[in-house]
Amino acid sequence: MSEKKRILTGDRPTGRLHLGHYVGSLQNRLRLQDEYECYFLIADLHTLTTRPEKVHIEALRENTRELVLDYLAVGIDPAKSTIYLQSAVHAVYEMNLFFEMLVTLPRVARLPSIKDMAKAANMDDEAIPFGLVGYPVLQAADILMPRSHLVPVGKDNEAHVEVTREIARRFNNYYGEVFPIPESMIGDVPTLVGTDGQAKMSKSLDNCILLSDDAKTIEKRVRGMFTDPNRTRADIPGKVEGNPVFIYHDAFNPNRDEVEDLKTRYREGKVGDVEVKAKLTAALNTFLDPIRDRRRQFEEDKGYVEEVLYEGTLRAVEIADETLKEVKKAMGLTGIWNRISRRARDRKRENQE
Ligand code: TRP
Repeated sequence: MSEKKRILTGDRPTGRLHLGHYVGSLQNRLRLQDEYECYFLIADLHTLTTRPEKVHIEALRENTRELVLDYLAVGIDPAKSTIYLQSAVHAVYEMNLFFEMLVTLPRVARLPSIKDMAKAANMDDEAIPFGLVGYPVLQAADILMPRSHLVPVGKDNEAHVEVTREIARRFNNYYGEVFPIPESMIGDVPTLVGTDGQAKMSKSLDNCILLSDDAKTIEKRVRGMFTDPNRTRADIPGKVEGNPVFIYHDAFNPNRDEVEDLKTRYREGKVGDVEVKAKLTAALNTFLDPIRDRRRQFEEDKGYVEEVLYEGTLRAVEIADETLKEVKKAMGLTGIWNRISRRARDRKRENQE
């Protein structure tokens, strides 16, 4: 095995990724892709925690494809990094169960993220599924599966990595050192505000700019963006801090001189919103052009996405089985446990032949 430290992170396949995902986590993944051995999971099981119905499962196939396309489009390279399908890695289900014993119910039940996800799914407290409370534990199983050291995530996932650290520490204390204690790494813009300037960018709020949006859509989105509400005319001095248009300029416009000039003139009431927005549109399109191009190429390559996912999943299964073996050895689930499960498996195989 390589000497590199390992990264694990990923996303639920619920739709296309947006600019918030980019500055929250994707950017860090790209920066670290050479330095670390990277595992990027498509967390399909996690989507079941709020939406177990058949219609949602039916949408997973297409959503999974979209997510892999977004990964490839931003520049995640399957020759360097392992992109895999969570539900195909069975060792994770077993680790999930062991880890459930290492965290208390109130610790996970009181996480604001659980309540937020329930609310977003229109569930009141009484309707929260057992599995949704287990969300962070399953995430811990993902993170610890390759014994990872670093977890690049958005701010909203930081608390889950904290739960993972507690589970890893507790496991190591009970059974011996198996896991590194993973650290979260939060992106340059931990929580990107949406185009509405009201809430964080989020697919469900219609305040997103997708990485796959075309140039026309970008222009329309930026034109409709919220700015300084007190600035009703271009000659009124405006506020730059907390102004979404300037937050996006800072995050996506590499021309620092242009951004500083716009800010100075905005503060002095010497530039109109139209110019600030036109320059933002141009910067965003320059940023997104290569991403959209690559996406198109991969879309046209029939069968490629599935091949990437298949190859990645094979690698993930291999390392997951290794870790599970270490876990069981450390726990002392060896000897008779191994013999029984091996004999059951062999018998099944014989019967199939
Ligand atoms: N919770 C992540 C999300 O918000 C998805 C996820 C599942 C994840 N397992 C993970 C992220 C492990 C980082 C590491 O979509």
